[in-house]
Amino acid sequence: MELSIIKPDDMHLHVRDGSSMQSVIAHTAAQFGRAIIMPNLSPPVTTVEAALAYRERILNALNKDVNFSPLMTLYLTDSTQVSEIKKVAVSEHVKALKLYPAGATTNSSAGVTDIEKVYGVLETMQEHQVPLLVHGEALSDENGHAVDVFDREKMFIDKTLYPLIRRFPKLKIVFEHITTQEAVQFVNAAGENVSATITPQHLMYDRNAIFKGGIRPHFYCLPILKRKKHQLALIDAATSGNKNFFLGTDSAPHSRTSKENACGCAGIYSAHAALEFYADVFEQANALDKLEGFASIFGAQFYGLEENDEYITLRKEPWHVPEVYDFGSEVVIPFHAGETMQWKVAL
Ligand code: NCD
Ligand code: ZN
Repeated sequence: MELSIIKPDDMHLHVRDGSSMQSVIAHTAAQFGRAIIMPNLSPPVTTVEAALAYRERILNALNKDVNFSPLMTLYLTDSTQVSEIKKVAVSEHVKALKLYPAGATTNSSAGVTDIEKVYGVLETMQEHQVPLLVHGEALSDENGHAVDVFDREKMFIDKTLYPLIRRFPKLKIVFEHITTQEAVQFVNAAGENVSATITPQHLMYDRNAIFKGGIRPHFYCLPILKRKKHQLALIDAATSGNKNFFLGTDSAPHSRTSKENACGCAGIYSAHAALEFYADVFEQANALDKLEGFASIFGAQFYGLEENDEYITLRKEPWHVPEVYDFGSEVVIPFHAGETMQWKVAL
């Protein structure tokens, strides 16, 4: 069996920097025409100038014949200036700002401490239609009490997102890597200008995967996997043909030693077989005909981009995922390491 679709875009990707980035970037460039590159380096990417320099480093790591365009983002901080937003608005390659609540995830210490501190910047983003990409997890409730790790997305929706869309009804928002039924409902209830990305792991697993037979660090990411009912709601959303849900892998490589550790990092590396994971999910949902919209059309539309002009072919052709891939001077354990995949992108 074969399936040809317009070349997809990965609308949420971490590639790190330096030799680590050089190890992983070819995986994404082999399958995707473009990718939204997350800015959570250490220190974070906060200016257009820094984002364009990072983009050059990514392009320099690829063979010259590879047709791949990194789409850059800036890390929103309490001190982001309106003048920087205006630069983004006219930039060809810098597309959006990423909101990380301070402390929510990997390298998020520079994140926004109180959304009201960035209202001025959000006003300008709304005016210029610069998208806000949101890591939607709240660490505390309105009384300052800590929120359970499984409830942080729902808390963020109630505490931050509903007030945000009321105050900025025309702001373009991507609710990144959604993990709950409540997030699906929020996107469905919000306007045309609010979309969401969905990762392969949240479509393929529920939270039991993290604990099956022992603790499994390679199933740990943020937002954390949730209950089965949430997984099913995400599958429904992704395969519905609703253009407000599109592909974003959140592929987030960490070295083997930083994952298999007494305090393991959050993040799943899925770039080596990203489209194959989604194809499995869509096939099992009897919705392979909806894969192209989700993977290749809706994201581009949201960002105001043309669809890619190449096509890509997926074949039903079993193959084995390697146990490890190089990752700078270390290795990264890929999602489904050592397992058999049913689909293969024809390269
Ligand atoms: C991401 C990372 O490692 O950069 N980790 C993750 O679990 N998704 C950060 C993020 O997107 O939250
Ligand atoms: Zn991410």
